[in-house]
Amino acid sequence: MDLEQIKKSAINEINNASDVKLLEGVNVKYLGRKGVLTNILRSLKDLSMGDRRKIGPKANILKKELEDLIGKKKNSFINFSKDDLFFDVTKPGLKISSGHLHPLSKIDAEVRKIFLSMNFSVVDGPEVESEYYNFDALNIPANHPARDMWDTFWLKSSGPAKSKFLLRTHTSPMQVRFMETHNPPFQIIVPGRVFRYEATDMSHEFNFYQIEGLMVGHDISLANFKFIVEEFCKKLFGPKIQFRFRPSYFPFVEPGLEVDIKLGSGSWLEVMGAGMVQRNVFDAVRYNPDEVQGFAFGMGLDRLAMIKYKIPDIRLFYNGDLRFVRQF
Ligand code: DAH
Repeated sequence: MDLEQIKKSAINEINNASDVKLLEGVNVKYLGRKGVLTNILRSLKDLSMGDRRKIGPKANILKKELEDLIGKKKNSFINFSKDDLFFDVTKPGLKISSGHLHPLSKIDAEVRKIFLSMNFSVVDGPEVESEYYNFDALNIPANHPARDMWDTFWLKSSGPAKSKFLLRTHTSPMQVRFMETHNPPFQIIVPGRVFRYEATDMSHEFNFYQIEGLMVGHDISLANFKFIVEEFCKKLFGPKIQFRFRPSYFPFVEPGLEVDIKLGSGSWLEVMGAGMVQRNVFDAVRYNPDEVQGFAFGMGLDRLAMIKYKIPDIRLFYNGDLRFVRQF
């Protein structure tokens, strides 16, 4: 092919290239590393002096010419592409689905916020717990019938260690851990995962979430507790929520009680256990029970979410069905 022919077909192809990709193809074909024109320029050195003088300058001029044409055409694509001309800046963007919070995470965040607003601190504790913290220090000695209140996943003990380990059956052990390392007055909540060795049904899971609360200081009484629960329930469920206290028994509180709230249907539902911290628990952490008092409470996060979002079955939280999760 002589230069004239190359020029003709190159210009033709440049004119016909209808998008940037095709244009780039033409660029490669003529000016690329193994391009038609590049080959000619490269082989100049093998020509006789006369031929070199004749062809060399022409080939270089053609190269420059094609580069210019391709550059111009490229710009025309950038400035006037079809997409650009018809780009509608008022059109709403595509909605990208980004996932969202699980209802338990939502209620967890809400509960924390409410207690933080009442000057409580949030603390965290281990899910694998020793028998001592989960039971003994909470006034639930071995062989005491109260242990039956918590069906327990025991861990196989490794080595000669005396203390047995388990998956915590409640968040209450953090009461003891916290008091061992802090002095009153304080008020804390402990949100966390707990485990029960029991069959599942619509209101029981072997794994669920609790929020423990503990306030210790001088002259703390049930009246303080009542105020805190009332504030909490109103903030979570709305100002009209009704609640009641019922006497109950938990080994680590005395007196012990349960708090019920009134549902839309008119029936009462238990939402937490609570009471004044038992003397033996203070003894276990070397507080003087004659000098400090405190109240403790524990509630099921799942139960709160079920009430608030009207969820009929606790198992829905854990089966991973996105049709469920996406509703919140
Ligand atoms: N830990 C108890 C449970 O899981 C709930 C509870 C009751 C916690 C009374 C407390 C309390 O702090 O005072 O059943």
